[in-house]
Amino acid sequence: MTTLQLQDLKKSFDDVVAVKGLDLVVEDGEFLVIVGPSGCGKSTTLRLLAGLERATDGRILMDGRDVTAVEPEERNVAMVFQNYALYPHMTGRRNITFGLRSAGDFTDEEIEQRLEQAAETLDITDLLDRKPKAMSGGERQRVALGRAIVRDPDAFLLDEPLSNLDAKLRIQMRAELTKLHDQLGTTTVYVTHDQTEAMTLGERVVVMRDGRIMQVAPPQELYDSPANRFVAEFIGDPAMNMLDVGLDGGRAVHDAFSIPLPVGERGGPGERPGSGRPFGGRRSAVLGIRPEDLSLTDRAADPAVEPFPATVEVTEPLGDSLLAHCSVGGSVVKIQAAPRTDVRPGDEIEVAYDPARLHLFDPETGKAFYHAEGALAAPAEVNRVGGD
Ligand SMILES: Nc1ncnc2c1ncn2[C@@H]1O[C@H](COP(=O)(O)OP(=O)(O)O)[C@@H](O)[C@H]1O
Ligand SMILES: [Mg+2]
Repeated sequence: MTTLQLQDLKKSFDDVVAVKGLDLVVEDGEFLVIVGPSGCGKSTTLRLLAGLERATDGRILMDGRDVTAVEPEERNVAMVFQNYALYPHMTGRRNITFGLRSAGDFTDEEIEQRLEQAAETLDITDLLDRKPKAMSGGERQRVALGRAIVRDPDAFLLDEPLSNLDAKLRIQMRAELTKLHDQLGTTTVYVTHDQTEAMTLGERVVVMRDGRIMQVAPPQELYDSPANRFVAEFIGDPAMNMLDVGLDGGRAVHDAFSIPLPVGERGGPGERPGSGRPFGGRRSAVLGIRPEDLSLTDRAADPAVEPFPATVEVTEPLGDSLLAHCSVGGSVVKIQAAPRTDVRPGDEIEVAYDPARLHLFDPETGKAFYHAEGALAAPAEVNRVGGD
């Protein structure tokens, strides 16, 4: 049983405020990923959890116990770093068991048993007699994980552990980390700047920006209902298209188009049914549409869709799709079309969209105030955390 709780946690380094008041609960056995651009405070947050940094303000609780001022070695958490931090002069075996031996709490037999089990779990028995310089990056990272596992910690804290591996190995290790977590069930906080890694690994994902939490949600929810513009543009590749539009009579109006915004029986968020004030009387918004929710078409199959004109500027064949950069009025819009779609720069095309996948953001605060899917189905729950 290990839950981690961050309460209004803050950390400053002289005049740099790295972490600006985090509130977060990591559930027992959860795999939580913290993602955000470089410098947003991810590592600092993890180091605070490990006790390697002392909080400027706020509290950290483990299973309800205040550990804010507790030394790292008293916390029983294991941290794994991007650069592995193995001792170069020690074999894999020594690297893994060194911490247990120096703690002095374990008999040789216990240590041997833990080593054997970890080596089996990670499939690293062959590496135990090698020194790090005779191991590949992936092998070193496995040994570093082995060192974390043998301690049988209450929580794993992983800071970009796969960043130094090549793309193929990273994907393989991602799957192995998921398997390992299923097997051990240890509460895990995993930090990365890579949104794909966050989406594939996290049971829940925390998106951070500039020392603050922008949204906490399961990956699909982040993708489908981003709470603000920052999350909308950070999660998903290629990024969501953003267009400045006017709002008029339930339509989004741009220089180049005017499209109806679906509103279900419940009305859009901010609209009280019958109030006659769609979107709370707002007159402008930023319309967000993901490239994969747009398509090239002569005529839309759905009568609710009103296709709009665009000019193709650049095409990028991605193999499994074709990315077309188009100009729509004065704006650039990326469209992820079917592979081998026959379009060339200069072509005048019609663009259709998935009407259930339109998003509106406040132009000033960046907060989402409408997701078409939510307006059509269950009451949309947006604006939970943070603005842009
Ligand atoms: N020991 C330190 N001394 C001074 N500034 C630091 C220190 N550690 C981190 N920072 C600053 O705090 C901010 C957050 O850093 P960090 O947590 O490493 O971000 P991330 O891991 O998300 O890239 C950055 O502006 C960074 O320069
Ligand atoms: Mg970092």
